[in-house]
Amino acid sequence: MRRRPSQQETDLPAAADPTGGEADETPPATAPAAASTAALAFDHVTFAYQRQAVLCDVTLRVACGETVAVVGANGSGKTTLIKVALGLLQPARGTVRLFGTAVTRFADWPRVGYVPQRAGPDAAVPVSVQEVVHSGLARQVGPLGRLSRAQRDTVDHVMEVMGVAGLRRQSVRTLSGGQQQRALIARALVTEPDLLVLDEPTSAVDAEARHTLRESLEHLRHHEQVAMVYISHDPHGFAGLADRVVEMQAGHLRDAGAGDGDTAPAHNAAPGHEPRGGPAHAG
Ligand SMILES: Nc1ncnc2c1ncn2[C@@H]1O[C@H](COP(=O)(O)OP(=O)(O)O)[C@@H](O)[C@H]1O
Ligand SMILES: [Mg+2]
Repeated sequence: MRRRPSQQETDLPAAADPTGGEADETPPATAPAAASTAALAFDHVTFAYQRQAVLCDVTLRVACGETVAVVGANGSGKTTLIKVALGLLQPARGTVRLFGTAVTRFADWPRVGYVPQRAGPDAAVPVSVQEVVHSGLARQVGPLGRLSRAQRDTVDHVMEVMGVAGLRRQSVRTLSGGQQQRALIARALVTEPDLLVLDEPTSAVDAEARHTLRESLEHLRHHEQVAMVYISHDPHGFAGLADRVVEMQAGHLRDAGAGDGDTAPAHNAAPGHEPRGGPAHAG
């Protein structure tokens, strides 16, 4: 997760090239591959719990920097899709890749932030917001548990982005459900992931908190270079936040149109471990 360049930066004329235009015009050999590597790719994936098929021949590609909303009724397989994406469940058939690497061999988990589906506010945890966010770096801190300057800056940055910086010393048990959810998303962002996966981020929060959360996620989408996959059982809840909406229906994944408010009904049907501790987990 890096800040996106501003429009001005991306629109610099050729004359502003700091190399003075002397750079080799041939792009580096790795550039085309990097451009085409998806953050997340499902290729004809089938998954079943015991004998109940939950994912049927699912193909999905989430490009780097892209935001995809996954909608669908309760029980349609959305959470299962995410657990398969993160290597927490193994498909019977097909392949899943994270940044071009089969999820079974993927080890770069700081690049993936995950906020699991929650039943409601977790009022039992007696720690501060800042401690919750720090804990996202648990595997990366030094021997005495000290954060580097850069890590402290990142903690501050993600708390600002998620609107919880003012609550940093407050115990999470005193927060509303929406504030807790934003703290957990900040925790998932603290490793500066290139892919953020949110399972029903608004399910346990009230309407006002949902609005604030949407604003924070909209900010992320426009200002940070992070691909996002949101899950929602509410087709209207998140569609406006996504570049693309896909819908789970009885195990099949269908294209449900462009995001940004255009949620045309499904039509062009697309066929549809814990390595090194697993993804940054904010549960
Ligand atoms: N651990 C499990 N064992 C057996 N069946 C499960 C398990 N988890 C989910 N299921 C079933 O798989 C289906 C899809 O569940 P899930 O992926 O949680 O759906 P969603 O997130 O869309 O509500 C449901 O029928 C659910 O009952
Ligand atoms: Mg679910």
